[in-house]
Amino acid sequence: MLLEGKTALITGAGRGIGRAIALAFAKEGCHVALAARSRDELDNVAAEVGDFGVRAVTLPCDATVLKDVRHTVSETQAAFGQLDILVNNAGEAKFAPIHEITPEDWQRALDVNVTSAFLFVQAVLPEMMARRSGRIINISSVTGLKALPRQCAYGAAKHALNSLTKSLNLELREYNIAAHAICPGGVDTKLSREAMPHRDKADWMTPEDVAHTALYLATLSPRAAVDIISMRRFASEPSA
Ligand SMILES: NC(=O)c1ccc[n+]([C@@H]2O[C@H](COP(=O)([O-])OP(=O)(O)OC[C@H]3O[C@@H](n4cnc5c(N)ncnc54)[C@H](OP(=O)(O)O)[C@@H]3O)[C@@H](O)[C@H]2O)c1
Repeated sequence: MLLEGKTALITGAGRGIGRAIALAFAKEGCHVALAARSRDELDNVAAEVGDFGVRAVTLPCDATVLKDVRHTVSETQAAFGQLDILVNNAGEAKFAPIHEITPEDWQRALDVNVTSAFLFVQAVLPEMMARRSGRIINISSVTGLKALPRQCAYGAAKHALNSLTKSLNLELREYNIAAHAICPGGVDTKLSREAMPHRDKADWMTPEDVAHTALYLATLSPRAAVDIISMRRFASEPSA
């Protein structure tokens, strides 16, 4: 198994892409800590993970709240001893024209989609730096690479998440800690169904497609660095 005995903390693990990553990692022998606000969804994923014979701990938390983040990381370390992989996946998307975005919407987009990742990274780093080992996978978006209409706040947050990823690689290489951002286009999940209810999702990617890329990054050769991976629907136009 590719991740036998490793440990991962996955935010937004109750459904969608986070759930798929949790199951893909668990199938490869990785123990998983599952974080999100909805306890019921986390419990359902933990039950599915149990089928693979690894340990799962469920940690209800709001990823935008510092004390929740610190508690989640300390509980993960108490359960597993060490943390090999952090996946910053928690996110939400509210799409609207720029003149309709309120300052509160703007701040919320930044809090959920990038500040949460910063808080989790700061909380896990002392243990990873002391061990001189660790991998951080940030679930960004194609909107982090190019502007899309009605997505100015979400796009600003995901651009910032990509920038954070590059800063981590610049500053943490000497500690043998690697960071990656995955930038998917359309994935059929609750988030995209609510943000874009009128779009036909028949040929959209699945959460498992993104989980496959996360597994690739989690098992990357220590000699290779991959900062950002862009994924798009096969049917969509390649960017220039
Ligand atoms: N779907 C797409 O087309 C697409 C494309 C590119 C990138 N992404 C990114 O992929 C990631 C996962 O999205 P998804 O599509 O899988 O959405 P989803 O199905 O709605 O899942 C989002 C997960 O994040 C959790 N979450 C949201 N706010 C949170 C908070 N404040 N604290 C803790 N957990 C929180 C949710 O649980 P609770 O609500 O219970 O907290 C849920 O488990 C997001 O970062 C999103 O931006 C999605």
